Amino acid sequence: MSKEDVKKGLIGIVVDETTISKVMPDINSLTYRGYPVQDLCDKCKFEEVAYLVWHANLPNTLELRKFESEERQNRRISINLTKIIEHMPKKAHPMDVARTAVSVMALEDKETSDNSPEANMRKAMRIFAKVPTVLGAFYRIRKGKKILKPKKDLTFSENIFYLFFGKVPQKEIVKALDVSLILYAEHGFNVSTFTARTITSSLSDMHGAVTGAIASLKGPLHGGANEKVMELMNKIKTPKKAEKWINNAINKKEVIMGFGHRVYKSGDSRVPTMKKHFLKVAKIKKDKKLHKIYTTLEEVMLKRKNIYPNMDFPSGPAYHLMGFDTDFFTPLFVVARVTGWTAHIIEQHAANKLIRPLSKYSGEKHRKVELLNQR
Ligand SMILES: CC(C)(COP(=O)(O)OP(=O)(O)OC[C@H]1O[C@@H](n2cnc3c(N)ncnc32)[C@H](O)[C@@H]1OP(=O)(O)O)[C@@H](O)C(=O)NCCC(=O)NCCS
Repeated sequence: MSKEDVKKGLIGIVVDETTISKVMPDINSLTYRGYPVQDLCDKCKFEEVAYLVWHANLPNTLELRKFESEERQNRRISINLTKIIEHMPKKAHPMDVARTAVSVMALEDKETSDNSPEANMRKAMRIFAKVPTVLGAFYRIRKGKKILKPKKDLTFSENIFYLFFGKVPQKEIVKALDVSLILYAEHGFNVSTFTARTITSSLSDMHGAVTGAIASLKGPLHGGANEKVMELMNKIKTPKKAEKWINNAINKKEVIMGFGHRVYKSGDSRVPTMKKHFLKVAKIKKDKKLHKIYTTLEEVMLKRKNIYPNMDFPSGPAYHLMGFDTDFFTPLFVVARVTGWTAHIIEQHAANKLIRPLSKYSGEKHRKVELLNQR
């Protein structure tokens, strides 16, 4: 096997089929089950899109009502899990909290080892409904505040704001979060989804696959980028310093977080929609600073490197202006992507083939084992 045969990073390798999402080049858009994401953002709320990702069609009124009712009934977490979260170190990263919480959910779920499509759908709903409650609880514990119980009369996104801050902001801000969740819900065979499918391919269970996917999403080359974007905007501090900073970073050949993409080489189709909602939030919050830093970095990166921003570039500052702490940005991505991961887990189970690639061995040649006293 020659070095050329090694497809490092699996670049360009098609490993399976999926019916869940596709980046359609003719319309330059990410599509879920055939629908362009920007249209879904304009015309639907996140619950409708979660339904679509799982059930392959948009719900009618009755189907949506049933779906929402089920989601709202499953929001509460057990006393046991609440106590475990209370005992977690306050300095823990919320991604580690989310990962551990899904593991605990596996211990509490009666259907953990049942991989039938029906049980998997019920488990997906339970994980989906409970993750925001876990995150809200940890956020409030960390701030020394009383944990709030999820509210059944609130939409999915409204409830997230309530669980964190105890109140629901104006509708434009709720819509911006909702849009970010729609845009983050699914994205083909990205690294966390592929991780989930790989775990599933050994016929392991949904909770295990989601736990692994959360670990994978944490990395800064994947979901962790939205936090890194905010860290760099904080480091730049003022719009005046932005141009000098980005030029220096490019000269030093640094990787700029929130830019570039393995699939999109001429612009991430989710960015214009997320940017529009980031700018709406910025206007409401009377922010000019982040908006200007955003524009400068975007312009210079395009001019000097011809590299476009990805979804994490507008979502990071948008989440910041909504009031979320930076280390909760990637966990918000988890809240959305649970839908995509679980849809892929169900798809993998339906037509499974153990994922087991090969590697080119470049280690030592055959060696003779010497006894300990002879080494
Ligand atoms: C996402 C990412 C890992 C894709 O990587 P990839 O498909 O393997 O592409 P490469 O890393 O090979 O990049 C190709 C070229 O563009 C450059 N490039 C890509 N992203 C860059 C970035 N964010 N900043 C600076 N240069 C970048 C690379 O240095 C490379 O240049 P070279 O050919 O001169 O070496 C990469 O763009 C990146 O690290 N981005 C920052 C992290 C991020 O925002 N992740 C979220 C993704 S949604």
